[in-house]
Amino acid sequence: MELAVTGAEKPRKTRRPTVKAPPISELLLSWYGSERRDLPWRAPPGQRTDPYGVWLSEVMLQQTTVKAVIPYYHKFLKLWPTVGDLAAADREEILTAWAGLGYYSRANNLHLCAQTVVAEFGGAFPCCEFELRKLPGIGPYTAAAISAIAFGRKATPVDGNIERVMARVFAVQDPLPGAKAKLKAHAEAMTPAMFAGDFAQAQMDLGATICTPKSPSCMMCPLKDHCKARAKGIEAQLPRKAAKPAKPERNCLAFVALRADGKVLLRKRESKGLLANMIEVPSTVWDSTVVNVDDALASPPISGDWWMVPGSVVHTFTHFRLTVQVVRAVVPASASLTLWAEQERCRWIARGELDGQALPSVMRKILAHGLGDVG
Ligand code: ADE
Repeated sequence: MELAVTGAEKPRKTRRPTVKAPPISELLLSWYGSERRDLPWRAPPGQRTDPYGVWLSEVMLQQTTVKAVIPYYHKFLKLWPTVGDLAAADREEILTAWAGLGYYSRANNLHLCAQTVVAEFGGAFPCCEFELRKLPGIGPYTAAAISAIAFGRKATPVDGNIERVMARVFAVQDPLPGAKAKLKAHAEAMTPAMFAGDFAQAQMDLGATICTPKSPSCMMCPLKDHCKARAKGIEAQLPRKAAKPAKPERNCLAFVALRADGKVLLRKRESKGLLANMIEVPSTVWDSTVVNVDDALASPPISGDWWMVPGSVVHTFTHFRLTVQVVRAVVPASASLTLWAEQERCRWIARGELDGQALPSVMRKILAHGLGDVG
């Protein structure tokens, strides 16, 4: 007798429990929990960060590397432990402490911002992006970073590291800067309602340590199975960048005047424009045409026996490249300044005290070239 195959005996389709892959934001947060960099402005996990420290670090980190920022961050917190201390500080002391970090408008704005936070918010930083954006020196990136990192608000700061991570995870092939809006939209769509600050910093750390511009270490990446660029084998080519136009050239002749008592002639720059309020070596105007040295030497800031220092100093700013020819003279203590030097902006500084001046890097280079050293 044949056995009838009943329904009960038919091989059944087994139903596997569905295991949902964790979303990218969870993978990143969990990676950050164990691999995050120990940086001085970060609070230990579970503790609140100090908004003043977060603001200070984020302003310093605009266009500047973490490695360069760390010593300046410690120096500022030591000199001015609170936003009130910074607001009450002398502008020139702030510029001196900032010297070497570059983009000096940040230091002027830092002071203005501290004063505004004290005057208008009683010394407590506002927590929402909208209010933060109104403060001097705080743009969309910094407002989002402070709101998310210091206050745990859902906000999406997008810096260069985050752009690279997003471009690779989503294989965005449009070149920067045009792709910025698309990359931000991807980052926003992934931002979790909680821990938005950790989420942003996780991407920053991933971009700085694993998803690096050249030779990314994909095998160590928590997102390797989700990365569309890796699946296509194009991770090292992203993000693409539009060709940058060559920087315009500017030229000047700088006058390094050394007095018989060992002091050097310096001058405070105007309170507006590039390197505002910083200290400079007097020079001819920074111009696109090459300097006619004879013409320039016909009207020095102070009379003396001027001679050309061989070679030149080249410094690259964001929007142009400056080539500086340097002349030097030892001048008698009795020599008087000519009109264009604008005596009220000038000062004589001992060589040993140059470090205590708000001298930007380009001026330190000019002095080193003109004096043979800066000390
Ligand atoms: N770059 C800008 N902000 C940063 C932060 N909070 N941590 C690390 N790198 C950064």
